[in-house]
Amino acid sequence: MRDKYCGAVDSNDIGKQILLSGWVFRRRDHGGLIFIDLRDITGIVQIVFSPEISPDAHSMAGELKQEFVIQIKGRVERRPEGTENPNIPTGMLEILVYSLKILNTSRALPFQLDEDEPNEAIKLRYRYLDMRRPEVQKVFITRSRVYKAVRDYLTSDGFNEFETPMLTKSTPEGARDFIVPSRLNPGMFYALPQSPQLFKQILMIAGFDRYFQIVRCFRDEDLRADRQPEFTQIDIEMSFVDVEDILRMGEGLVKEVYRTVKGHPWDMPFPRMSYDEAMERYGTDKPDLRFELPIIELTDIFANTEFGVFKKALAEKGTVKCIVLKGKTLSRKDLDVSVDTAKQMGAEGLIWIRNENNAFQSPIAKYLKEEEKSMMSQRLGLQDGDIVFIMTGNRQKVNELMGRFRLYIGERFDLIDKNLYKFLWVVDFPLFEYSEEQKRYVARHHPFTASKTDIRGFNGDYESLKSKAYDLVLNGVEIGGGSIRIHRKEDQFEMFKLLNIGEQEAQEKFGFLLEALEMGAPPHGGIAFGFDRLLMMLMGLDSIRDVIPFPKTQKGVCLLTDAPSKVAQKQLNELKIRLASDK
Ligand code: AMO
Repeated sequence: MRDKYCGAVDSNDIGKQILLSGWVFRRRDHGGLIFIDLRDITGIVQIVFSPEISPDAHSMAGELKQEFVIQIKGRVERRPEGTENPNIPTGMLEILVYSLKILNTSRALPFQLDEDEPNEAIKLRYRYLDMRRPEVQKVFITRSRVYKAVRDYLTSDGFNEFETPMLTKSTPEGARDFIVPSRLNPGMFYALPQSPQLFKQILMIAGFDRYFQIVRCFRDEDLRADRQPEFTQIDIEMSFVDVEDILRMGEGLVKEVYRTVKGHPWDMPFPRMSYDEAMERYGTDKPDLRFELPIIELTDIFANTEFGVFKKALAEKGTVKCIVLKGKTLSRKDLDVSVDTAKQMGAEGLIWIRNENNAFQSPIAKYLKEEEKSMMSQRLGLQDGDIVFIMTGNRQKVNELMGRFRLYIGERFDLIDKNLYKFLWVVDFPLFEYSEEQKRYVARHHPFTASKTDIRGFNGDYESLKSKAYDLVLNGVEIGGGSIRIHRKEDQFEMFKLLNIGEQEAQEKFGFLLEALEMGAPPHGGIAFGFDRLLMMLMGLDSIRDVIPFPKTQKGVCLLTDAPSKVAQKQLNELKIRLASDK
């Protein structure tokens, strides 16, 4: 139905007759001529209807409205001097139309494709219209190119691609499962996989050595800008490897994705940081390193303080930590807002000190000893105008709150260079973490993660143990995570014991894996990258929904199809399901 794509018409076509098809994008009427931007997936070309060339086509063109689908025949011409558009590849050319066929009409659109962004509900409801916009098409074409780049990169490195079941058993990532009732086994349910974790381990035990899959994962979590209930992972597992091998491979892959999206290579190695350092210095396990503003310890300086708030915190084995904002002028109101913000985040308080003419201006200045002030000035390298924000209390809590406050200050005072990409491997995660909800220690990554030290003869100090788990962070967002696995059954059982998972429970949930571990499981480990998150970050988009063709809203609804929806009573009957609301 066409000789060429619209965006592909070029100067070699000048003087030739051409057949094109596409959508009516923009239209302008000028002195009897009708100009239309004809659009397809490749771009735009200007077509011109003149009553002198074809009165029929010209009069039909009068009826054309936005997004009509048309086919035209015409002659490619150079545009008259002064009317060229240097901003588009076909901007030197136009097509004088001598026949027009309307292939389809369009009713008035709910929003204009070439105007401002419509609101998100409209965009998602009419996703096919939103997707007609060239900038949105570009995102999904890039996404498609990245699939290919990932596949090429990994297959040429000895990886084989597998599919693993979608109807499966609960997997160990620790989020809530989506479950699917089984008609053939009434009362029984499949779980949709939170990841292919156990299957990829089984594939290593099967001897495949290197596995990957670009795979959909499902987690029934509260949704945020970087979270969807179904999302895509680049999932990887390798045999006969240790941490270093996975980091090297993962880094190579992410650089390849970077190159594909950005069009130029990333040459620098990704820096590394231990989990402990990340927590102490940035108050989070996913530091945003686009700005420095580290959290600095002051506790030792106040060992003999007279200031009540610090004294109390120190007596309770707490900590005093601060960040220093340099080179910004803050009003009294800015300072008050900062204090309120910290409190809203859950801090008991926030102390500010302004260093002015070598004197501390602060509500607490009078309680500080000269010696304390001078030690602070020295440690923090204070200069005129610097502002110190201090929090005090339980170390973990102060780190966490300071981490969030640091991000707030970074945003609020424009410290973040949005053009930077700051990759970071965070390593040496704790093996366990305390779950307030379950009132016990749980696996920080998942219960198949190997410990860095031998856990046999464990002394009861859960928080002292480190794991062979790692995350890749980009600009403060976790874009990947994985671990070396336990590959011997004895060690796996030892781990379950520490996690208080009984033998029966372990057998019920993961029996197949435990059995496989008994039959020559090789040392193995892996990683999974959040494909959508990685794309969102590299393309500089704010929401993961922008890189997913058919995403769900915050409430888990697909506005295009209206899923989830009710099902027929007959379906429920077949499944032997009665709704609580039915009584
Ligand atoms: P993990 O749970 O860390 O590891 O997930 C890996 C990566 O997937 C992305 N991700 C998400 N992206 C969008 N929406 C979500 N709801 C969501 N949840 C996670 C993140 C994350 O870093 N099986 C292990 C991997 C392994 O050990 O090999 C796993 O799934 O970018």
